Amino acid sequence: MSDTIRIVVVGSGYVGLVAAVCFAEMGHNVVCVDNDQRKVDALRGGDSLIHEDYLPELLERYRNAKVHFTSDLSEATRDAEVIFIAVGTPQSGSGVADLSYVEAVASEIARSLTTYTVIVEKSTVPVYTNEWIRRVMERNGVARNLFDVVSNPEFLREGTAVADFLHPDRIVVGTDSARAAAVLSKIYEPLTNGSYYAQVDAIDGFRSAHEPPPLLLTSTKSAEIIKHASNAFLALKISFINAVSNLCEAADADVEQVARGMGMDSRIGPRFLRPGIGYGGSCFPKDVAAFRCVAEQLGVDFALLSEVEAINADQKRRFLSKVRSALWTLRGKKLGVLGLAFKGGTDDIRESPAIELVQMLIAEGCSIKAFDPAAMARAEQVLPPGPNLRYVSDAYAASNDVDALLILTDWAEFSCLDLQRLNMLMRYPIVVDGRNLYDPDLMLENGITYFSVGRPAKHHVHEFAAVGA
Ligand code: UDX
Repeated sequence: MSDTIRIVVVGSGYVGLVAAVCFAEMGHNVVCVDNDQRKVDALRGGDSLIHEDYLPELLERYRNAKVHFTSDLSEATRDAEVIFIAVGTPQSGSGVADLSYVEAVASEIARSLTTYTVIVEKSTVPVYTNEWIRRVMERNGVARNLFDVVSNPEFLREGTAVADFLHPDRIVVGTDSARAAAVLSKIYEPLTNGSYYAQVDAIDGFRSAHEPPPLLLTSTKSAEIIKHASNAFLALKISFINAVSNLCEAADADVEQVARGMGMDSRIGPRFLRPGIGYGGSCFPKDVAAFRCVAEQLGVDFALLSEVEAINADQKRRFLSKVRSALWTLRGKKLGVLGLAFKGGTDDIRESPAIELVQMLIAEGCSIKAFDPAAMARAEQVLPPGPNLRYVSDAYAASNDVDALLILTDWAEFSCLDLQRLNMLMRYPIVVDGRNLYDPDLMLENGITYFSVGRPAKHHVHEFAAVGA
């Protein structure tokens, strides 16, 4: 087996596109397939389509050279050694993952397979998917010795996707075939043997030649469950701290201190203990629901997952109540909104709690001036500007003459605003922070009444004089 593997990646979304350029960065030859010709043309022309650190540079380095883009799946797969399926697995009405794209790709691959090929699930899929892919191949007449199915789940986060891909905590390869395991091990060898990190132009991250990532070999089914269970556990951790934040509010304690104290226990760890307005994004909400459905289908009672979802939904309602109690009534209030993306560092608004809150606030009769450093173009498509919603050019424009300013996304630039300037601009200096970006005392020192999550509110006394005046 040569060191350079011929890889096809099907799907050019966050996972597919990042995997394609990163495999090229690791020395392999890649063809990335998408059935949307406009996307293919844009990528060939150097438009990376999504906001992601390092992606434009890697795309520029490899496009039309080590990474080719095409919409012709059968042509691309004909002489591939490995095919990664990274297409969408959207949520259907009941929460079950819709696997029709995966099935369509598998059937098409089956028609063009002539030599031994490893088919890899990179999309997040339920535990029985590898068996279905195998069945689809066999039903389409592909001999069993011509392919193997592997689960190689991806754990990258949006915003840090390239660095996460190249500096993973672990690489999980689930397969019941030694031959396929050898192929996947070869692909990831530049990472697992540390040679990638010794290169002078390697993308920065926490891994090094001395501390390369481990590759964990498991059964196919275990790998599929590892992905769902990991995402569900992280969502649970967030819901847990959100529930604790509600308790802190009721008890007049400070959830940031509680989270710090909990996180210092190495068995718990400090990450994913940030309280807020609930998790969003294209993965957690969908994957928790899909995992719940998998458990149901397998006859396992996993009610804990429903509770995780319920706490998450409630967290948005609680934030809305907090805004209401800060302002007494909502109808006719002018609000500034900072952040529309589901988290800082991305332009993605899928399942964004910020978008949902803006919709709720408009429904309550508020008018909003919103700003997001990257997500406004996408937000305008689902929330068109109108009499009650304007998009503005920066955080200060969003604060101008408003009854309160709401922080809904944890962009780094929102955590270092000029507070004196904010105070001067706002009609009433009230900030309701759904991401706990500020020290409450600092807000108070700057004359701002400050509400956050799981911490006692800080009231600036002059505010009441102003309201009464
Ligand atoms: C997630 C997983 O982290 C990743 O491993 C998987 O491959 C895809 O799903 P992503 O959706 O990019 O990644 O975002 P992540 O950084 O995990 O945040 C998800 C949501 O949880 C965001 O809305 C974020 O704001 C929220 N969050 C995260 C919290 O509210 N508190 C936290 O402590 C961490």
